[in-house]
This record gives sequence, structure tokens and C-alpha cells, in this order.
Amino acid sequence: MATFHDLGTAALRYLDAEAAHEAALLALKTGIGPRARADRWPRLKTALAGLALPNPVGMAAGFDKNCEVADALLAAGFGFVECGTVTPLPQPGNDRPRLFRLREDRAVINRLGFNNKGVDEFADRLAARAGKSGIVGANVGANKKSADRAADYVLCMGRVWKHAAYVTANISSPNTPGLRGLQERGALEELLGRLREARAPLEAAHGHRPLFLKVAPDLDETAVRDIAEIVVSNGIDALIVSNTTLARPPHLTSYNADETGGLSGQPLFAPSTQILRLFAQALEGRLPLIGVGGVESGATALAKIKAGASAVQIYSALVYDGPGLVARILYDLDGLLAAEGFDTVQEAVGVDSRA
Ligand code: FNR
Repeated sequence: MATFHDLGTAALRYLDAEAAHEAALLALKTGIGPRARADRWPRLKTALAGLALPNPVGMAAGFDKNCEVADALLAAGFGFVECGTVTPLPQPGNDRPRLFRLREDRAVINRLGFNNKGVDEFADRLAARAGKSGIVGANVGANKKSADRAADYVLCMGRVWKHAAYVTANISSPNTPGLRGLQERGALEELLGRLREARAPLEAAHGHRPLFLKVAPDLDETAVRDIAEIVVSNGIDALIVSNTTLARPPHLTSYNADETGGLSGQPLFAPSTQILRLFAQALEGRLPLIGVGGVESGATALAKIKAGASAVQIYSALVYDGPGLVARILYDLDGLLAAEGFDTVQEAVGVDSRA
């Protein structure tokens, strides 16, 4: 029988994609949303870069850009929630329409361009939930018109540090012109060097926080090896693999497939898992990985974990299946792990990427 939440998700399908997103946020804010205990499956309890996670399925960045519904998402069963991307100053993002469903492909294209209310509001909201349980991370970026992008990351990191469980530097959005250039060797060394310097006094004042870096799937093997080496030598604690892709696989059939922007969802699963595997091989266990891209079931979550992810994140599948999907993924992942003889999810990490 269809539940109230399934019916809500079905109704949202008839709205423009961004209006549906706004309606979903509003529903979560007013407390209408599914509830599942994140720690119901002991086999799924895990750790990531020193963070104790009740389960390895997280909310990916971009859904809750302004950190307004983190607690409602945690209540839906997510093991952790990544808010953002937030930039120093508020900015409107690109003109609408800028968010498109590719229903036949179970995919999404977005060219939002870091629309957000700025880091001051974001930091206030994080501070307002201080003392509550649940892992809420802050994903930070740079303003479109910034003259010194690295300075934007440093500023945001400083503003959120005290109340974020972890901080992610997002250098892989395709919708801020030039941002992905930060993944190139020289620019990456400079950015991570400045973050490392800025981090030391924050750690001294407020304590240790893991610092993550989020990368694109559109990388060749040399870039993967370069990035792996640079993140290890600059004290980054985990890599998030991956953001959306600029590629358009030839098998896409949806009307919106030629829209400009980053593609996510089912067609991103194979390429992002392949890049995840390359990172797992290059890093050889020196850093944990978070797998993102096309996770929509227990089986796809497990495939990312076996490719080397200690945890996964999801976004696009929720557009089609609603937040009740989280509990279904957890239930299925637990069952699949049990059927394959794994007592803990940690035992399955990277079993497919080992030489
Ligand atoms: C995103 N994503 C994203 N990532 C990020 O680091 N900062 C952001 O602000 C956003 N914004 C955003 C908006 C929308 C509408 C989508 C669909 C995605 C990328 C997201 O976190 C994730 O990396 C990809 O979407 C791949 O995962 P899924 O969607 O295939 O599960």
C-alpha cells in the first residue's frame, strides 16, 4: 500500500524540479518526513576518519545548501548529513530553469551555481544545533566573483569549524567557471597548503575536525595519482568521490539530456565507481573514501563499498524515490552483507579493489 510519504513524493513529480525541491525542504522543516532509526542495524555501524557513524549512508551536499533541515534528514535514517555548498557571501546562482529531471534515465542535471544564503547564516544554524546528536558536516566553496578562491575556502572553513563535525572543500562543482581548475597540481598544492596553515589555529582553539576534499569524476589516471599524492602530503582526512559529471553517456534518452550542467544519478554510477576504484588503488588504504554517484539501492551502496568506499552518499535517487529510500537502502545493505558473510560493513570495504 502506498504510504503518505510515497504519495507526497508522487505529487512532487508534477512540479518543476526546483519547486519540488523547495516543497521537499518545506515539508522537512515542518516535520513532515519519514522517520527511521539510523542505528537500527548493528552491522552497519562504522567509523570514518575518526567519526563514529551509526550507518554508512549519508546525505550528499547540495540538498540542504543552507543547513536548514539537517536534523530532519538525520531523523529519516541518514548516518550523516553534509550541508552546503556554502560560500562566504550569499549569491543567487544561475538563472532558472537550472535543475532538470531526466526521468527515463533516473538522472538529474543541475547548473545551480552555488545558490546559497552565505556562510554567516549557515554558521548560525550550525551553532543553533550545537549539542544535538548526529554527524553534520559543512561543505564549503568559493563565490563566483571571488578574486582569491583559496581565501574563500579558508574563510568558510574558519566560520564553520567550531560546530561542524567535519569540513569538506568542494573543488569539483562544474557550475562555477574555473572551479575545477583547483584540482590541477599547482593550484591544489597551493589551496591545500593554505587550508593546512589555517587549520592549525582552529584545531588549537576548537579541537580536531576531519577535513575532506570532494573531487570530480571527470579525471584521468594521471590526475587521480597526482591528487592522491597531494592530499596525503597535505593532511586531508578523506576524499569524496565524486561530484556530478560533465560527460553525457550516449545511452541517455531523456528530453533534458542536452541541458548544460552536471549530470548525477544512475548514469553516474559506473563512471564514479570506476574513479573511486582508481583512487582506492592509488591510495592503498592511506585515506578513507566516500563513494557518491548513482547510489539508489542496497546493492549499489555495497558495490561502492566493495570498490573502496568506507561510506556512501546519495542525492538524485531521493528525487525519484523520496527520503523513505534511506531506510530501504539500509535494510537491503544489511541483508546483502549478512548473505555474503560480512559481520560488519567495514569488512567489505575495498574487497574488490585489492590487488
Ligand atoms: C549536487 N551536488 C553538489 N555537490 C556539492 O559538493 N555541492 C553542492 O552544492 C551540490 N549541489 C547539487 C545540487 C543538485 C541538484 C544535485 C543533483 C547535486 C552533487 C551531489 O552532492 C553528488 O555528488 C552528486 O549528485 C552524485 O550523487 P547522486 O546524485 O548520483 O546520488
